[in-house]
Amino acid sequence: MIIHPPAALREFVPEFDRQLREYVWTTVNDAPQLVEAVKYSVLAPGKRIRPYLVVRCCELSGGWRDHAWPVAAAIECIHAFSLVHDDLPAMDNDDVRRGKPTTHKQFGEAMAILAGDALFSLAFELVGSHLPRHSRLGEIVRELAESTGWAGMIGGQASDISGESSPPNLVLTRAIHERKTARLIACACRLGGMVAIADASTIERLGRFGHHLGLAFQIADDLLDVRASADQLGKATQKDIHAGKQTYPRCVGVEASRQAAHDELRKAIDALSAFGEAAADLRQLAEYVVSRDY
Ligand code: IPE
Ligand code: IPE
Ligand code: MG
Ligand code: MG
Ligand code: MG
Repeated sequence: MIIHPPAALREFVPEFDRQLREYVWTTVNDAPQLVEAVKYSVLAPGKRIRPYLVVRCCELSGGWRDHAWPVAAAIECIHAFSLVHDDLPAMDNDDVRRGKPTTHKQFGEAMAILAGDALFSLAFELVGSHLPRHSRLGEIVRELAESTGWAGMIGGQASDISGESSPPNLVLTRAIHERKTARLIACACRLGGMVAIADASTIERLGRFGHHLGLAFQIADDLLDVRASADQLGKATQKDIHAGKQTYPRCVGVEASRQAAHDELRKAIDALSAFGEAAADLRQLAEYVVSRDY
């Protein structure tokens, strides 16, 4: 069964994509192949969950949607960079992403590596050039860098690769999920609060929501690799087991993985309780994440 994204996310995607295209299109650059590879990677049809979280957490904290676009685009650039590198032959060696050939299949490995690098730095270029006088600029840049770097997503990707040679281990799996996926999703939520100049306790709550949502998200992604079809996902499935990945289904089986995803979903929703009805669409998004087609 295919579960469709909630209406608010469906409406958000074209609005966000217009902004993203504008940012990427207006970047002046004289390396045409690299420009094509960057556009191909970041503008491909993704679910746009992370930028949605930035924008909605900003609005939930009393901020304006228009102020959140550069940060929302930045986080999608970092996410796209992570996918381009994740798919490389030296990493997960995938041929299809977002229903299209992966960036290295389309442009070659060298251009894919460089497109990932360019997307990483474009994220900071967008924040620096569009929020030059924001009172939280230093905090925003630090949050983005720490969540992406060796203590965050990139560190998690390193453990994901080195974990391929270890027997299944739930503690290790959780630690990998926390860094490779949950850190950036929590970062998206916290950044929304920071753009809105929210107080520390609001940012903490948003970060807690994102942390549990991110854990649920990666358990669901692991389940989808086992349960869904490549057509449904726009990427190859049944790959994790052959690569010896540390995944939830491999450690505890499908049923216990579903239960774990629901436990994280409940904790994510609990973190939103102080926001009341205003957070209804974030709750819906969280439910969508764990109930995707499996
Ligand atoms: C895929 O993320 C990578 C993981 C962290 C599991 P998404 O499932 O959000 O990918 P897109 O952006 O929709 O393509
Ligand atoms: C990827 O996890 C996480 C990041 C890209 C940071 P996966 O390797 O499971 O993602 P998919 O399944 O290829 O999308
Ligand atoms: Mg991977
Ligand atoms: Mg992968
Ligand atoms: Mg996966």
